[in-house]
Amino acid sequence: MNTLDDTFKQPPNQPANPSQQSHCKTLLLTGATSGIGEALCNQYLSMGWNVIACGRNPEKLSLLVCNNNVTAIQVDLTEELQVTEAFSSLPQLDLVILNAGNCEYINDAQHFDGQLFARVINTNLISVGYCLQALLPKIVAGGQLALVGSSASILPFSRAQAYGASKAGIAYLASSLAIDLKKHNIDVSLIRPGFVKTPLTDKNDFKMPMCISSEEASDFIVNGLNKRQFDIHFPKKFTLILKSIALLPESFWHWFSARTLQK
Ligand SMILES: NC(=O)c1ccc[n+]([C@@H]2O[C@H](COP(=O)([O-])OP(=O)(O)OC[C@H]3O[C@@H](n4cnc5c(N)ncnc54)[C@H](OP(=O)(O)O)[C@@H]3O)[C@@H](O)[C@H]2O)c1
Repeated sequence: MNTLDDTFKQPPNQPANPSQQSHCKTLLLTGATSGIGEALCNQYLSMGWNVIACGRNPEKLSLLVCNNNVTAIQVDLTEELQVTEAFSSLPQLDLVILNAGNCEYINDAQHFDGQLFARVINTNLISVGYCLQALLPKIVAGGQLALVGSSASILPFSRAQAYGASKAGIAYLASSLAIDLKKHNIDVSLIRPGFVKTPLTDKNDFKMPMCISSEEASDFIVNGLNKRQFDIHFPKKFTLILKSIALLPESFWHWFSARTLQK
């Protein structure tokens, strides 16, 4: 069994258990300690992958390293120095899923909370830049990069100015990276979930239509990544409704969006 301390003591570029792992594929996953990330971690482990699991919660990370195919990294992704140091001695990676994120709503748009806005943009977008800086050089040719956005970037919702702006940024970032990484033989995917029951959405004070479990979300993601799809959005019934409404005149979707995510 690897303890969290053992993990930190591993020599650079060595997998957690070399005898088992030399021919396995390696995933680096942020936000592996909860919700969608935890489900993804379990699913990739069950498929025989090595998982480099990142998060901040030490108790959750200690549990993850009970699996010999997990290497845990404790890192606050909003701190550039921590990210650079934590990822400096990693082996080559077949797949990177940047999933960590948080959601806070702006309850009073007229009295806009700039600190809240900065917090959400830092966690959901700026941290991704730090990760890309450290991790892109480690992705093998033929490898994959996936950014977890949100269906909130398909259509603007009430109170979601900070969260939606961060996820719209992720959507643009993924689209633009897909163009430039093609020549390096790295496929990029944008993952846009609808509502998924996790600690993040347990805080929501409104109805969440077509909400799915994190295991279902993980299935959709793994399936889309296996097919190397760019836009992995789910559940389809929900996201296709949003995509259709987004095509309608602005006045209609303003009316629709004003009625969503209200307390
Ligand atoms: N749930 C949904 O309905 C839904 C819908 C659309 C998109 N998403 C997106 O899916 C992703 C995962 O969400 P979730 O619902 O699974 O949320 P969650 O259960 O709250 O998990 C969030 C994960 O992100 C990590 N994290 C947050 N801030 C971090 C930081 N500064 N440094 C390092 N790690 C950090 C957390 O790590 P620690 O707990 O260890 O700190 C945790 O592992 C997010 O990007 C979210 O925006 C979720």
